[in-house]
Amino acid sequence: MNIILLGPPGAGKGTQANLLVDNHGMKQLSTGDMLRAAVKAGTEVGLEAKAVMERGELVSDAIVSALIDDELAAMDADTGAIFDGFPRTPAQAATLEEILAKHDRKLDLVVELVVDEEALVDRVTGRFTCANCGEGYHDRHKQPEVEGVCDRCGSTEFKRRKDDTEETVRTRMKEYRAKTAPILPVYEPRGIVHRVDGMASIDDVTTAIEKVLASA
Ligand code: AP5
Ligand code: MG
Repeated sequence: MNIILLGPPGAGKGTQANLLVDNHGMKQLSTGDMLRAAVKAGTEVGLEAKAVMERGELVSDAIVSALIDDELAAMDADTGAIFDGFPRTPAQAATLEEILAKHDRKLDLVVELVVDEEALVDRVTGRFTCANCGEGYHDRHKQPEVEGVCDRCGSTEFKRRKDDTEETVRTRMKEYRAKTAPILPVYEPRGIVHRVDGMASIDDVTTAIEKVLASA
Protein backbone atom coordinates (compact mmCIF):
# COMPACT_ATOMS: atom_id res chain seq x y z
CA MET A 1 0.00 0.00 0.00
CA ASN A 2 1.20 3.54 -0.78
CA ILE A 3 -0.17 6.35 1.32
CA ILE A 4 0.29 10.08 1.70
CA LEU A 5 0.15 11.64 5.18
CA LEU A 6 -0.89 15.23 4.72
CA GLY A 7 -1.05 18.02 7.27
CA PRO A 8 0.61 21.27 8.34
CA PRO A 9 3.83 21.44 10.40
CA GLY A 10 3.38 19.62 13.71
CA ALA A 11 0.23 17.79 12.59
CA GLY A 12 1.86 14.49 13.57
CA LYS A 13 2.91 13.14 10.15
CA GLY A 14 6.32 11.96 11.39
CA THR A 15 4.90 10.55 14.63
CA GLN A 16 2.25 8.50 12.82
CA ALA A 17 4.59 7.45 10.00
CA ASN A 18 6.97 5.98 12.59
CA LEU A 19 4.14 3.98 14.11
CA LEU A 20 3.07 2.67 10.69
CA VAL A 21 6.66 1.56 10.09
CA ASP A 22 6.67 -0.29 13.42
CA ASN A 23 3.21 -1.84 12.98
CA HIS A 24 3.21 -2.69 9.26
CA GLY A 25 6.82 -2.78 8.08
CA MET A 26 6.12 0.05 5.66
CA LYS A 27 8.85 2.56 4.76
CA GLN A 28 8.63 6.21 5.71
CA LEU A 29 9.68 8.57 2.94
CA SER A 30 10.08 11.96 4.63
CA THR A 31 11.51 14.60 2.32
CA GLY A 32 12.12 16.79 5.40
CA ASP A 33 14.30 14.05 6.97
CA MET A 34 16.10 13.47 3.64
CA LEU A 35 16.83 17.18 3.28
CA ARG A 36 18.05 17.49 6.88
CA ALA A 37 20.39 14.53 6.26
CA ALA A 38 21.68 16.26 3.11
CA VAL A 39 22.26 19.50 5.04
CA LYS A 40 24.15 17.58 7.74
CA ALA A 41 26.27 15.77 5.16
CA GLY A 42 27.01 19.05 3.34
CA THR A 43 26.01 17.67 -0.08
CA GLU A 44 25.13 19.91 -3.02
CA VAL A 45 21.40 19.42 -2.30
CA GLY A 46 22.01 20.22 1.37
CA LEU A 47 23.86 23.42 0.55
CA GLU A 48 21.00 24.54 -1.67
CA ALA A 49 18.28 23.59 0.84
CA LYS A 50 19.76 24.85 4.11
CA ALA A 51 18.81 28.54 4.04
CA VAL A 52 15.43 27.86 2.42
CA MET A 53 14.51 25.40 5.19
CA GLU A 54 15.69 27.76 7.91
CA ARG A 55 13.34 30.41 6.53
CA GLY A 56 10.48 27.88 6.50
CA GLU A 57 9.99 28.11 2.74
CA LEU A 58 9.75 25.26 0.26
CA VAL A 59 12.76 23.69 -1.44
CA SER A 60 12.48 23.33 -5.23
CA ASP A 61 10.11 20.73 -6.67
CA ALA A 62 12.94 19.22 -8.76
CA ILE A 63 15.15 18.52 -5.73
CA VAL A 64 12.51 16.81 -3.60
CA SER A 65 11.03 14.85 -6.50
CA ALA A 66 14.47 13.45 -7.32
CA LEU A 67 14.94 12.41 -3.69
CA ILE A 68 11.64 10.49 -3.73
CA ASP A 69 12.40 8.87 -7.09
CA ASP A 70 15.77 7.62 -5.81
CA GLU A 71 14.23 6.19 -2.63
CA LEU A 72 11.49 4.34 -4.49
CA ALA A 73 14.00 2.95 -6.98
CA ALA A 74 15.95 1.43 -4.07
CA MET A 75 12.88 -0.04 -2.37
CA ASP A 76 11.65 -3.59 -2.43
CA ALA A 77 8.50 -3.78 -4.60
CA ASP A 78 6.48 -5.39 -1.78
CA THR A 79 7.22 -2.71 0.79
CA GLY A 80 4.54 -0.05 1.17
CA ALA A 81 5.53 3.62 1.10
CA ILE A 82 4.36 6.33 3.48
CA PHE A 83 4.88 9.74 1.93
CA ASP A 84 5.50 12.17 4.80
CA GLY A 85 5.80 15.80 3.72
CA PHE A 86 5.60 14.99 -0.01
CA PRO A 87 3.91 16.04 -2.25
CA ARG A 88 3.71 19.64 -1.10
CA THR A 89 2.74 21.48 -4.29
CA PRO A 90 0.44 20.64 -7.21
CA ALA A 91 3.56 20.16 -9.37
CA GLN A 92 4.96 17.62 -6.88
CA ALA A 93 1.60 15.82 -6.84
CA ALA A 94 1.73 15.51 -10.63
CA THR A 95 5.34 14.29 -10.53
CA LEU A 96 4.47 11.72 -7.87
CA GLU A 97 1.95 10.13 -10.26
CA GLU A 98 4.69 9.73 -12.87
CA ILE A 99 7.21 8.39 -10.37
CA LEU A 100 4.71 5.87 -8.96
CA ALA A 101 3.79 4.64 -12.44
CA LYS A 102 7.48 4.28 -13.29
CA HIS A 103 7.97 2.04 -10.25
CA ASP A 104 4.74 0.03 -10.88
CA ARG A 105 2.99 1.49 -7.86
CA LYS A 106 -0.27 3.31 -7.34
CA LEU A 107 -1.51 5.69 -4.71
CA ASP A 108 -3.99 3.99 -2.39
CA LEU A 109 -4.80 6.54 0.29
CA VAL A 110 -4.37 10.16 1.31
CA VAL A 111 -4.79 10.66 5.06
CA GLU A 112 -5.28 14.29 6.03
CA LEU A 113 -4.54 15.09 9.68
CA VAL A 114 -7.02 17.84 10.55
CA VAL A 115 -5.62 20.15 13.22
CA ASP A 116 -5.97 23.50 14.95
CA GLU A 117 -3.01 25.58 13.75
CA GLU A 118 -2.62 27.60 16.98
CA ALA A 119 -2.13 24.41 19.00
CA LEU A 120 0.52 23.34 16.50
CA VAL A 121 2.81 26.21 17.39
CA ASP A 122 3.01 24.74 20.92
CA ARG A 123 3.59 21.26 19.53
CA VAL A 124 6.38 22.25 17.18
CA THR A 125 8.28 24.63 19.46
CA GLY A 126 8.31 21.98 22.26
CA ARG A 127 9.52 19.14 20.08
CA PHE A 128 12.86 17.32 20.42
CA THR A 129 14.19 13.98 19.20
CA CYS A 130 16.75 11.39 20.22
CA ALA A 131 20.00 12.22 18.40
CA ASN A 132 20.74 8.51 18.05
CA CYS A 133 17.51 6.74 16.98
CA GLY A 134 15.25 9.68 16.10
CA GLU A 135 12.47 8.83 18.59
CA GLY A 136 10.28 11.94 19.00
CA TYR A 137 9.55 13.70 22.31
CA HIS A 138 7.92 16.89 23.53
CA ASP A 139 8.71 19.24 26.45
CA ARG A 140 5.15 19.14 27.70
CA HIS A 141 3.34 16.22 26.05
CA LYS A 142 5.83 13.37 25.76
CA GLN A 143 8.87 13.34 28.03
CA PRO A 144 11.13 10.25 28.16
CA GLU A 145 10.11 7.90 31.01
CA VAL A 146 13.51 8.45 32.66
CA GLU A 147 14.52 12.09 32.35
CA GLY A 148 17.34 12.58 29.84
CA VAL A 149 17.33 8.94 28.62
CA CYS A 150 15.72 7.83 25.35
CA ASP A 151 12.96 5.25 25.95
CA ARG A 152 13.76 3.42 22.75
CA CYS A 153 17.58 3.21 22.61
CA GLY A 154 18.92 4.53 25.95
CA SER A 155 20.88 7.38 24.38
CA THR A 156 21.31 10.56 26.44
CA GLU A 157 21.80 12.85 23.43
CA PHE A 158 18.81 14.82 22.12
CA LYS A 159 18.43 17.46 19.42
CA ARG A 160 16.04 20.17 18.25
CA ARG A 161 15.32 21.33 14.71
CA LYS A 162 16.62 24.74 13.64
CA ASP A 163 13.31 25.56 11.93
CA ASP A 164 11.22 24.92 15.06
CA THR A 165 11.04 28.56 16.15
CA GLU A 166 7.67 30.30 16.35
CA GLU A 167 8.47 32.69 13.50
CA THR A 168 9.58 29.91 11.14
CA VAL A 169 6.63 27.70 12.08
CA ARG A 170 4.27 30.52 11.09
CA THR A 171 5.99 30.82 7.70
CA ARG A 172 5.77 27.02 7.26
CA MET A 173 2.03 27.16 7.99
CA LYS A 174 1.54 29.94 5.46
CA GLU A 175 3.38 27.87 2.87
CA TYR A 176 1.14 24.90 3.72
CA ARG A 177 -2.07 26.89 3.29
CA ALA A 178 -0.94 28.56 0.06
CA LYS A 179 0.87 25.72 -1.72
CA THR A 180 0.08 22.35 -0.13
CA ALA A 181 -3.61 22.49 0.82
CA PRO A 182 -4.52 23.05 -2.89
CA ILE A 183 -3.39 19.52 -3.75
CA LEU A 184 -6.32 17.96 -1.85
CA PRO A 185 -8.89 18.73 -4.58
CA VAL A 186 -6.69 16.73 -6.97
CA TYR A 187 -7.28 13.58 -4.90
CA GLU A 188 -10.88 14.19 -3.72
CA PRO A 189 -12.62 13.00 -6.91
CA ARG A 190 -10.75 9.68 -6.67
CA GLY A 191 -12.40 8.92 -3.32
CA ILE A 192 -9.06 8.19 -1.62
CA VAL A 193 -8.96 11.12 0.83
CA HIS A 194 -9.69 10.28 4.48
CA ARG A 195 -9.79 12.89 7.23
CA VAL A 196 -8.55 12.05 10.71
CA ASP A 197 -8.78 14.27 13.80
CA GLY A 198 -5.13 15.16 14.42
CA MET A 199 -5.97 16.92 17.69
CA ALA A 200 -6.82 13.62 19.40
CA SER A 201 -4.16 11.80 21.46
CA ILE A 202 -1.33 10.14 19.54
CA ASP A 203 -2.84 6.69 20.29
CA ASP A 204 -6.31 7.75 19.14
CA VAL A 205 -4.90 9.20 15.91
CA THR A 206 -3.11 5.89 15.29
CA THR A 207 -6.33 3.96 15.91
CA ALA A 208 -8.19 6.20 13.45
CA ILE A 209 -5.50 5.71 10.78
CA GLU A 210 -5.54 1.94 11.35
CA LYS A 211 -9.31 1.98 10.70
CA VAL A 212 -8.75 3.83 7.43
CA LEU A 213 -6.10 1.29 6.38
CA ALA A 214 -8.37 -1.62 7.28
CA SER A 215 -11.21 -0.16 5.22
CA ALA A 216 -9.07 0.35 2.12
P1 AP5 B 1 9.21 18.62 7.26
O1 AP5 B 1 10.31 17.97 7.96
O2 AP5 B 1 8.31 17.83 6.42
O3 AP5 B 1 8.39 19.48 8.33
P2 AP5 B 1 6.84 19.90 8.43
O4 AP5 B 1 5.93 19.53 7.34
O5 AP5 B 1 6.88 21.32 8.78
O6 AP5 B 1 6.28 18.98 9.51
P3 AP5 B 1 6.92 18.60 10.87
O7 AP5 B 1 7.96 17.55 10.66
O8 AP5 B 1 7.30 19.83 11.60
O9 AP5 B 1 5.65 18.03 11.63
P4 AP5 B 1 5.01 16.57 11.68
O10 AP5 B 1 3.67 16.65 11.05
O11 AP5 B 1 5.96 15.53 11.19
O12 AP5 B 1 4.79 16.46 13.25
P5 AP5 B 1 5.48 15.51 14.33
O13 AP5 B 1 4.98 14.11 14.16
O14 AP5 B 1 6.94 15.72 14.39
O15 AP5 B 1 9.80 19.80 6.34
C1 AP5 B 1 10.77 20.70 6.83
C2 AP5 B 1 11.21 21.65 5.73
O16 AP5 B 1 11.85 20.91 4.69
C3 AP5 B 1 10.08 22.43 5.02
O17 AP5 B 1 9.76 23.61 5.71
C4 AP5 B 1 10.74 22.70 3.65
O18 AP5 B 1 11.66 23.75 3.72
C5 AP5 B 1 11.52 21.41 3.40
N1 AP5 B 1 10.72 20.40 2.68
C6 AP5 B 1 10.39 19.15 3.15
N2 AP5 B 1 9.66 18.49 2.25
C7 AP5 B 1 9.52 19.31 1.17
C8 AP5 B 1 8.84 19.20 -0.06
N3 AP5 B 1 8.16 18.09 -0.40
N4 AP5 B 1 8.90 20.26 -0.92
C9 AP5 B 1 9.60 21.37 -0.62
N5 AP5 B 1 10.24 21.56 0.55
C10 AP5 B 1 10.21 20.53 1.45
O19 AP5 B 1 4.80 16.08 15.67
C11 AP5 B 1 5.16 17.35 16.19
C12 AP5 B 1 5.22 17.32 17.73
O20 AP5 B 1 3.93 17.09 18.25
C13 AP5 B 1 6.10 16.19 18.29
O21 AP5 B 1 6.75 16.67 19.45
C14 AP5 B 1 5.11 15.08 18.65
O22 AP5 B 1 5.56 14.29 19.73
C15 AP5 B 1 3.88 15.89 19.02
N6 AP5 B 1 2.63 15.23 18.65
C16 AP5 B 1 2.38 14.54 17.49
N7 AP5 B 1 1.11 14.09 17.47
C17 AP5 B 1 0.54 14.54 18.64
C18 AP5 B 1 -0.77 14.39 19.19
N8 AP5 B 1 -1.75 13.72 18.53
N9 AP5 B 1 -1.01 14.98 20.40
C19 AP5 B 1 -0.01 15.67 21.05
N10 AP5 B 1 1.25 15.83 20.57
C20 AP5 B 1 1.52 15.26 19.39
MG1 MG C 1 7.90 15.56 10.35
